[in-house]
Amino acid sequence: MRSHYCGHVDESLIGQEVTVAGWVHRRRDHGGVIFIDLRDREGLLQVVFDPDRPEMFSEAERIRGEYVLLVKGVVRDRPEGTINPNMKTGKVEVLAKELTTLADAETPPFHHDETANEELRLRYRYLDLRREGMMHNLRLRHSVTRAMRNFLDSEGFVDVETPMLTRATPEGARDYIVPSRTHAGKFFALPQSPQIFKQLLMMSGLDRYYQIVRCFRDEDLRADRQPEFTQLDIELSFVDEDAVMETMEELARNLFKTVMDIELPSPFPRMPYAEAMQRFGSDKPDLRIDLELIEVADLMQSVDFKVFAGPAKDKEGRVAALCVPGGASLSRKEIDDYTSFVGRFGAKGLAYIKVNDASSGRDGLQSPILKFLPDAAVSGIVERTRAAAGDLIFFGADKANVVNDALGALRVKVAQDRDLVSDRWAPLWVVDFPMFEKDKTTGRWTSLHHPFTAPSTTDPAELKANPGDILSRAYDMVLNGSEVGGGSIRIHDQAMQAAVFELLSISGEEAEEKFGFLLRALQYGCPPHGGIAFGLDRLVMLMAGADSIRDVIAFPKTQSAHCPLTNAPGDVSAEQLKETGIRLRKVPSEQA
Ligand code: AMO
Ligand code: AMP
Repeated sequence: MRSHYCGHVDESLIGQEVTVAGWVHRRRDHGGVIFIDLRDREGLLQVVFDPDRPEMFSEAERIRGEYVLLVKGVVRDRPEGTINPNMKTGKVEVLAKELTTLADAETPPFHHDETANEELRLRYRYLDLRREGMMHNLRLRHSVTRAMRNFLDSEGFVDVETPMLTRATPEGARDYIVPSRTHAGKFFALPQSPQIFKQLLMMSGLDRYYQIVRCFRDEDLRADRQPEFTQLDIELSFVDEDAVMETMEELARNLFKTVMDIELPSPFPRMPYAEAMQRFGSDKPDLRIDLELIEVADLMQSVDFKVFAGPAKDKEGRVAALCVPGGASLSRKEIDDYTSFVGRFGAKGLAYIKVNDASSGRDGLQSPILKFLPDAAVSGIVERTRAAAGDLIFFGADKANVVNDALGALRVKVAQDRDLVSDRWAPLWVVDFPMFEKDKTTGRWTSLHHPFTAPSTTDPAELKANPGDILSRAYDMVLNGSEVGGGSIRIHDQAMQAAVFELLSISGEEAEEKFGFLLRALQYGCPPHGGIAFGLDRLVMLMAGADSIRDVIAFPKTQSAHCPLTNAPGDVSAEQLKETGIRLRKVPSEQA
């Protein structure tokens, strides 16, 4: 139908006839002349309707926003003074000669408005996707996956599909389950990741695997989590962690160079998990922010302030300080707001010291807790935090995990509020994770990563002797404070795998029932292997500068895992329930 995209019509076409098609973005009636901004995926183009063709003109008078038009006309210069430098096509316009209305349109519930209610935008997602920003994000995502495929292809990786109807894959979330009709009473689980299958492919000898694959996790949703999301999933044989990390960095550098013309550092810095927690209170530190948590527990051992002395003496406790440059100007209300902010992470308060003058001891300081602290503690704090006049020092004192969560999050929040986040890309590998952590409620060991991750020891007896001290061979790729990928070298030895299951309190019987096929496969010649999975949505979100992964997914779900567009999840018929052998404990109307 058309000769050119609207957004491609420029000065080079002046004097030529073009046929363009698209949606009416805006229509202006200038007493006798009608202007329409016609929009397609490439951009906007101004079309002019002169009254000297009455039939066409009366049709132009009828059309409204979002009507779909086909226009034939001649490209001409815009008159002096009407040039729009903000528009790609702003120097030209098309004088219409023929107009065909291809479709009328109802008045849309919102007009290219990213601030419209999100539920409404999701219900009319096809309209929301008409926004330039959304179209850009979808196309960016396409460029990203294309660059990934090109790179992996050139490195000898083979794209293999793995089942969606499968058994539970332990990645720590709840499963989405699918009832089976042919095996009534039994259920498939949708994969939380292709983890086990990609390991089996290594045992088959595929050597290098990748897949851009949907994963399903029923977990609490946040801005960077969706119930179904996409991984770039990768596995390699005959590698150690250095080899995987080097290849994956190369992938990331290639991706940023190709898609955004950005040079990421080479190599990426690496940081042990313990150091990340110590310095930043987070296992995914945002290195664009210069602030760090400073240990002060040793200064607080014997102070007359229980809030600090208690955690300072507790082996599992932590007392840490965070110095905010220029923070002395924070108002009472701002400090109160930060106090409630850290409260969300379990902190019971947020002590602070304002520094008016760093060189005159306690006289230069201002704080409700100063009276509790001896001179040595006060000068120690100022010295260690390198606080200067005009700064403010925040304190966290509690169990170490509470302090880390609270001050780690506060560090990022304060930096965002006070414009302390530098404008750069800060990738990082976090390594040397503990193999296990103890579940507070059950007292059982759980995997920090997943149960197929290899420990740093090759001796199952050593692992069992002190599971809390053993590190894993896992690595996370962090970018600007977001965990964009995680992986590990895997266990390729049946005895070690059995030992890990045992430590995780997975009985021999349960292990056989759930993962018997994997344990068996490990007996038939398994190469050393390892891999990683990137969160594609998160990566594209960062590249797009979006605030939520919902902005880079064509048809995402809400925070409550609902799709307002299709109204999924929905009811099924009594017939379908019967076929799959299911009887609901409560029918939905009763629940309502
Ligand atoms: P992991 O569970 O760390 O590892 O997942 C890999 C990456 O996927 C992204 N991600 C998510 N993105 C959006 N919504 C979610 N709900 C969500 N959950 C995870 C994150 C994360 O870094 N099988 C292992 C990988 C391996 O060991 O090779 C795995 O799935 O960016
Ligand atoms: P209080 O003695 O409870 O009045 O607390 C004195 C100061 O210490 C207040 O500024 C509180 O916000 C702060 N505070 C209380 N508990 C903690 C804690 N666990 N960590 C850091 N500061 C705290």
